[in-house]
Amino acid sequence: MKGVTVITHPLVQHNLTRLRDRRTKPQEFRRVLSEVAALMLYEATRSFAVRPTSVVTPLARTRGAQLQREVVLVPILRAGLGMLDSILQLIPHARVGFIGLKREETTLRATSYHQSLPKRLRDFEVVLIDPMLATGGSTVAAMDLLAERGGRRVRLVNLVAAPEGIRNVHRNYSELPIFTAAIDRRLNERGFILPGLGDAGDRLFGV
Ligand code: PRP
Repeated sequence: MKGVTVITHPLVQHNLTRLRDRRTKPQEFRRVLSEVAALMLYEATRSFAVRPTSVVTPLARTRGAQLQREVVLVPILRAGLGMLDSILQLIPHARVGFIGLKREETTLRATSYHQSLPKRLRDFEVVLIDPMLATGGSTVAAMDLLAERGGRRVRLVNLVAAPEGIRNVHRNYSELPIFTAAIDRRLNERGFILPGLGDAGDRLFGV
């Protein structure tokens, strides 16, 4: 699908399969989700702009590169938290914003209960983090909040996406690059991704 990069790296797919497995308990789920997030970040940040710089090694001066813009990581609570730590280890200088969204079970509408973001996002590279993209309502709501603050360079790191959700997100934000490990079959009548991996938040935190 246009605007979607499916990360087919064997380690990502191996870990995704462990996360899908219903026998995987919260302790292992947390560890594997964290590992897979780091692998996915590698691909998702490939297009970060760098500026040329020079560096002096113990032996000589040479050309180098440094990130051009500050980075802000924005996990969507709760499930996005499961991908945050390992990503932060790879970009330790990143700032971290939070968006709390809860999808109402019957209407499937996402409502915001918390946000803590830098006031201006215009000059940041923003990495939006959420393992699940189902109807896309949560991603659209998060994007609305980021757009209000001028966020322009946003990418979504997502583990499993439903085609319906991708279409919804791209109807609203056609330029948003989505990096995912899988585009699944469809949503069921309760708005769960099939085959999916169940409720990522519940499986992470055991409630
Ligand atoms: C789940 C999931 C996504 C969202 C996806 O979160 O973690 O954030 O639903 O659904 P959507 O694309 O249809 O909006 P949930 O609202 O269950 O909250 P949780 O992370 O606290 O479990």
